[in-house]
Amino acid sequence: MPTETRTRRAPRATRRAGRIRIGLLGLGTVGQGLCRLLAERGARIEADHGLRFEVTSVLVRDAGRERAFAPPRGRVTADPAEFLRGGYDCVVEAIGGTEPAHSLVSRLLRAGVPVVTANKALLAEHGPALRAIAAGSGTCLRAEAAVAAGIPLLSLLEHSLKAATVRRVTAILNGTSNFVLTRIAREGERLGEAVAIARRLGFAEADPTLDLSGVDAAQKLSILVERLWGTALPLEAIDVLGVGEVTSRECELAAALGYALKPVAFAELEQGEARAFVAPAAVPVSHRLAGVEEELNYVQLDTDTLGPLTLVGKGAGGLPTASSILDDLLAVARGGGPDDVPSSPRAPLRPAPCRTPWLLLLTLAADAADTVLELLRGAGVRLREVRQATQALVATTAPETRERIESLGALLGPLRAVAGARFFRILKGE
Ligand SMILES: NC(=O)c1ccc[n+]([C@@H]2O[C@H](COP(=O)([O-])OP(=O)(O)OC[C@H]3O[C@@H](n4cnc5c(N)ncnc54)[C@H](OP(=O)(O)O)[C@@H]3O)[C@@H](O)[C@H]2O)c1
Repeated sequence: MPTETRTRRAPRATRRAGRIRIGLLGLGTVGQGLCRLLAERGARIEADHGLRFEVTSVLVRDAGRERAFAPPRGRVTADPAEFLRGGYDCVVEAIGGTEPAHSLVSRLLRAGVPVVTANKALLAEHGPALRAIAAGSGTCLRAEAAVAAGIPLLSLLEHSLKAATVRRVTAILNGTSNFVLTRIAREGERLGEAVAIARRLGFAEADPTLDLSGVDAAQKLSILVERLWGTALPLEAIDVLGVGEVTSRECELAAALGYALKPVAFAELEQGEARAFVAPAAVPVSHRLAGVEEELNYVQLDTDTLGPLTLVGKGAGGLPTASSILDDLLAVARGGGPDDVPSSPRAPLRPAPCRTPWLLLLTLAADAADTVLELLRGAGVRLREVRQATQALVATTAPETRERIESLGALLGPLRAVAGARFFRILKGE
C-alpha cells in the first residue's frame, strides 16, 4: 500500500501546509455527517486552525447510491483495493461491525496511517490488539465518537482529571434505549410503537437489536472501563440485560415507589474488583440521571478529587458523531497520540458480581399479597419497602446478586396467584 508510514510524534499532516487528506470508510449516517460538517464548517476550521480537511476517497458497499451528503471532490468506490491505493494523512472508519472494518483498520495502522473510528463493536472486540499495532508502527487510533458519540468524554479523560481517581461511572450510553423507555413511560406506548418513532426521527437503526439488547451500551462501557482503569473488561464480564421487555405498566408501578426505569450502564472499581452492568434500572427520581430523557446520553464520573462530574449530550446522530470525529482529526493533524491514556494507575481488574438492591414488581391475583410476602421472607429475601397496588405488589430488597434474585422467579413461577414477576436493579447514589 503506497500510503506512507508516519511517526506518532510528527505525523506528515503537521509537516505539510494545511491540506489533510482523509480516506473515509463508510458514507452512511456518520460518514455523511462528517461530509456535511466539513462542507458547512470547513472554512471556519481552516481560518481557526490553518488546516483544510479534504475527503479524497470513500469506500462504500454501493458506489452508485445517491447520498444527501458526499465529498465534493473525493472518489467513491466499492473496491477496497482501490481505496487502499490512496495516500492518506488519516483514515476515518465509519463502516461499523467487525468485518471488513477490522481487516481494513489493521492494514492501515500497520502501514502507519492514523485511524479515527466511531465503531464500538470493533473496539470492544479488537481494541487492545489494534492499539498495539498502532503503537508498533508509530501511529495512533482514536475513538472519541465510539463511546458517547457527540459527548467529548475520551478527550476529557485524555487531557484532564490527571490527579483524580475515578471510582465509578454511572451512565446512559444508548440513545435508542433511552428514547424508547422515555416514550413507553411517558406516552404509554408499546415497544414496537416507540421503536418505530425512534426510527422515523433517526434515533434507531433499521435493526435496533444491539441497542435494545444492551450489547451496544456494554461495548461502550467496556471501552470506557479500559480508558478509566487501563485494562480492558471483556464483554462477558459485564452483566447485560436489555430494555426490550419493559412495559408502561412496569414504569407506572416503579413510579409509584419514586423510581424511573432508565437504561443504565454502571461500572465500579474497588480494590481491584470491577463490577459492571447494563440494564433497565430503577433510578430514584431525585437522581440526576432520572431526568435525562429522549435520545440524550449521560455520563457521571465519581472522582475522589472533585466528587461527581456529569456530562449530558447527544449520544447519536450524524452531526454530533462527526463533531467528535473532527476533534480527533484535529488531534491527529496536530501530532497528538492515541486517546487511551488511563487516568489512574493500571491495575489488573478482577470481575466480580454486582450486588444491588432490587425493585420487585409482582402482578398478583386478588388477596395473594400476604402469602407471597411470607414466601419471599421464608426464602430469605430481605425486603425493605413494600407497597400494594391494584393486582400488584411492589417491593424493594437489600443488595443481592442477579443470580439470587432470578432464583425467585423459579420460586414464584409455579404459584397460580402470581401472574408475573419482574426484577429491576435499583441504582444507588445521587
Ligand atoms: N449513527 C450514529 O448515530 C452513530 C453514533 C456513534 C457511532 N456510530 C458508529 O459509526 C459507525 C457507522 O454508523 P452509521 O450509523 O453511519 O452506519 P450506516 O448508516 O449503516 O453506514 C455504514 C456505511 O458503511 C458502508 N459499509 C457497510 N459495510 C460495508 C462493506 N462491507 N464495505 C464497504 N462499505 C460498507 C455502507 O455502505 P452503503 O451506504 O453503500 O451501504 C454505509 O455507507 C458504526 O460503527 C456505528 O456504531 C454511529
